[in-house]
Amino acid sequence: MTDQRTVRVAVIGDVHGAWDEEDVEYFDDSDYDVVLFVGDIGSYRHKQTLAVARRIARLRKRAILIPGNHDAVLAAQLVAEVVQSKLATSALGFFGTRLQGELARALGSVEIAGYSVHELASHELSVIAARPHSMGGPGVAFGPLLKRRFGITDLDSSRRRLEELVEGCRYERVLFLAHNGPTGFGGAPTDIWGCDFKEGGGDFGDADLEHAIAHARRRGKRVLAVVAGHMHHRVKGGGTRTWQVTDAGTLYLNAARVPRVLRQSGKRVRHHVRLLVFGDDAQAEEVLVPERE
Ligand SMILES: [Fe+2]
Repeated sequence: MTDQRTVRVAVIGDVHGAWDEEDVEYFDDSDYDVVLFVGDIGSYRHKQTLAVARRIARLRKRAILIPGNHDAVLAAQLVAEVVQSKLATSALGFFGTRLQGELARALGSVEIAGYSVHELASHELSVIAARPHSMGGPGVAFGPLLKRRFGITDLDSSRRRLEELVEGCRYERVLFLAHNGPTGFGGAPTDIWGCDFKEGGGDFGDADLEHAIAHARRRGKRVLAVVAGHMHHRVKGGGTRTWQVTDAGTLYLNAARVPRVLRQSGKRVRHHVRLLVFGDDAQAEEVLVPERE
């Protein structure tokens, strides 16, 4: 007899274009209960993102995807965010909602996540999706887009919205899905969400997500895992990022092995993370699936 409280979760890190029919067949044939995408399915071209989304949409297995900072935004918007041009960001934010609609249509029955709750009723587990399009760091990326779609104007309003989601979710067992992980795990470049592109590093996590996790615990929820990506495993300047940490009974996963198709012993393999939840425990391992000959 299978324990309904055991949940098998496939976590797909930042795809950046690396997804095709072979992945669809693998995950559809697998024993996973659900497939979670942490976002950044495309890179800089919206058309490419839509093409990847259509390939992901072929999955028959239940799938939930939170958009990253590369998804359903214009390359110019992304550049404006990186250089922190307020004027360009707000002018370009105007296009955001159209691109969002296109992404949602391309994804078909894949659930698009962000400030949302996705109940896994047969497993008594709530998946709470945090702020979409996060780029990490102290502010809220894509402000005009978040304001239009969700009424979010800053980290404070994001904290409040996430609190509401925690209050409204159905189950005591909770899993958070985000594009970028929470603050609180160190500022060294190789830390799980540490900054590797600025002199001196720094904690590049999302403060609103750390707040939401603490709020969930205060409300008696059992936060079994926090699943995110964004900060790639290969660290600028050398080294490899820590990709899993356990703290206060919660497993934190950064699944962003990029590229997710890599070579191992001369063979091409595809990366994902296998997350298993048993009752109130969670554990994870990296899986490298050999490509078909
Ligand atoms: Fe990202």
